[in-house]
Amino acid sequence: MSVPVLTFFNNKGGVGKTSLLYHLSWMFSHLEKRVLIADIDPQANLTAAFLTEDAIDEIWNNKPAANTIYQCVKPLVGVGDIVKPELQNITENLYLLPGDVALSSFEDQLSNEWPNSMNDVNLYRPLRILSAFWQIVQIAANAIQAEIILVDIGPNLGAINRSVLIAADYVIIPMGADLFSLQGLKNLGPALKSWKELWAKRLENWENSGDKKDHPELLLPEGSMKPIGYLCQQYGVRLSRPVRAYDKWVQKIPGVYREAVLNEEPAGETRQEDDPNCISIIKHYRSLIPLAQEHRKPIFDLTPADGAIGSHANAVFSAREDFEKLSLKIMGKIGLCSYPTGPAA
Ligand SMILES: Nc1ncnc2c1ncn2[C@@H]1O[C@H](COP(=O)(O)OP(=O)(O)O)[C@@H](O)[C@H]1O
Ligand SMILES: [Mg+2]
Repeated sequence: MSVPVLTFFNNKGGVGKTSLLYHLSWMFSHLEKRVLIADIDPQANLTAAFLTEDAIDEIWNNKPAANTIYQCVKPLVGVGDIVKPELQNITENLYLLPGDVALSSFEDQLSNEWPNSMNDVNLYRPLRILSAFWQIVQIAANAIQAEIILVDIGPNLGAINRSVLIAADYVIIPMGADLFSLQGLKNLGPALKSWKELWAKRLENWENSGDKKDHPELLLPEGSMKPIGYLCQQYGVRLSRPVRAYDKWVQKIPGVYREAVLNEEPAGETRQEDDPNCISIIKHYRSLIPLAQEHRKPIFDLTPADGAIGSHANAVFSAREDFEKLSLKIMGKIGLCSYPTGPAA
């Protein structure tokens, strides 16, 4: 049995993917889940949230070991194979597979192998390469007995993200309440559907190929990429922008999500508050965010010693409640715990 993979995806940057993954991975670990978090965005912002610059410098430049996602896939560019990753132990229950800016150089190889994986023969190597991210995170998760794998990715529909999505069992879509996020959603729904279908064809091709007999050990991801809902960010609201403008976009999200992502008819008007696909609305955490970044902690773990006093202390408390509730809800949706999965509270 493979370890479930969850990713956050929107074809639009700055919608809070990395911040959400960072906070959720901490909260999952507080809730006693063993978590592997993999940074497969060549921007490596998630890695920078967990580790100091000196630590990253050491990982990128001084050690020959396979301690970034890129170092694990690099031999595939030649004639070599995947290398078992070395993980960064963040806490007892939380491990990081660091990102790497060099990963973008793997994009071309992934693009080239995509058509090759539909050939009549020699399918093993292309499929091994296209599923490399899944193979690596599964090896890593098994090594630490992780129950869930969270993967951070960049905001585009390129070959790296296609390979990550193929590796994903579940997808959450973080949204901003603006035209650009909504437009991103319209492109993303059909892309997910097409990747899912094209991967299913590749699995079928492999099943019916002679190559499978020579490599019975090759396990491949199912490519489920099941959308389990969206999160709507309030923080993108510019204070100068009228509330009406925010509302206008917010109220369009339920219909666009249903149509573009679930392929369902936009069944009349659904207010976001009543939409079962809206997992939660993410608050604007204002000055807690830079304070937490400074102390390299999630906002809900800030203490008075970090400067979280007075109204900040109350905000920390309520952020902890928000993230605990959100984590339990997501865990419920992916079968990691039992929890009611109704509309956003
Ligand atoms: N809930 C929030 N409240 C306030 N600021 C936030 C919140 N979530 C994210 N941000 C800020 O918004 C910016 C973009 O977030 P980020 O997580 O990097 O988005 P993405 O990964 O989608 O590009 C960052 O500067 C981050 O600190
Ligand atoms: Mg990011």
